[in-house]
Amino acid sequence: MIAILLGAPGVGKGTQAELAAEANGWVHLSTGELLRQEAAAGSELGLKANEYMSRGDLVPDEVMVGLVVARIESLKADDVLLLDGFPRTLPQAEELGKAAPSGSIGLALYFMASDDVLTGRLLGRGRQDDTLEVIQHRLTVYRETTEPLVAYYRDQKILREIQADRPVEAIQKDTSQVVKSVLSQKESA
Ligand code: AP5
Repeated sequence: MIAILLGAPGVGKGTQAELAAEANGWVHLSTGELLRQEAAAGSELGLKANEYMSRGDLVPDEVMVGLVVARIESLKADDVLLLDGFPRTLPQAEELGKAAPSGSIGLALYFMASDDVLTGRLLGRGRQDDTLEVIQHRLTVYRETTEPLVAYYRDQKILREIQADRPVEAIQKDTSQVVKSVLSQKESA
């Protein structure tokens, strides 16, 4: 099964995906992390991607789709994949729908927090793209390009909302529980 983690920069997608994957033996794929590893290794793709990331812009869809589809194809049938940071555009969501095995996208978890909470967390972290100017641009890109996916997955009746302005442990309890409940529904169907 594939569970998509949706939500604005700084909402805690990476934190929650990592904890849930570790506790439950699930697979965590972070597209941001993948790009940062490519950039650190100095690959052509990574260096190109870093230009977009440092501005807070999205890396082009064709690059992202190629990276993610290759990893989906290498999954085992009983893997649970937590997809963190992908899809981020409607074309990415459509390509994911085509590439994923039929019925395997079981859940889109929508993490929610106010812009003040998000900005405070990102400034506190201080990654290369965590300056105030870039954070504000990332939030604008998110609202314009990624947030429409909330309605897209709500229409598909797989969206579940999670309040993310709470302690990490409380959010984690809900996150793992929701994924497990969808998994057990699928198993008994
Ligand atoms: P990506 O790495 O995905 O960045 P992002 O979406 O901006 O997400 P963040 O990692 O900033 O936030 P998060 O929600 O994971 O929160 P986190 O757990 O880290 O992408 C970076 C760039 O790569 C993009 O801008 C784009 O250029 C490119 N890219 C990636 N995917 C792409 C795609 N599909 N298409 C095109 N381009 C793509 O937490 C943030 C901080 O808050 C941490 O310090 C954490 O410790 C803290 N925190 C977390 N939860 C809590 C809590 N409950 N309470 C207090 N603090 C908390």
